[in-house]
Amino acid sequence: MYVCICNALKDRQLADASHGARNVAEVFRRCGRRPQCGKCLPDVAQMIEAARDEGDSAPLLAAE
Ligand code: FES
Repeated sequence: MYVCICNALKDRQLADASHGARNVAEVFRRCGRRPQCGKCLPDVAQMIEAARDEGDSAPLLAAE
């Protein structure tokens, strides 16, 4: 399922990139993309949070 329509990024890609990511910017960087409209950012932040709950670590919507 597509989570980020602007960048055609699917949930699996974003979830994989979320492991160990410090914030959403890092997730997009790992995918070789940049956020555009921003509508998906809360979902990506939740993916980072879920990864942390599974044992990852770090501030979510922090700008870099
Ligand atoms: S849906 Fe992800 S930046 Fe627009």
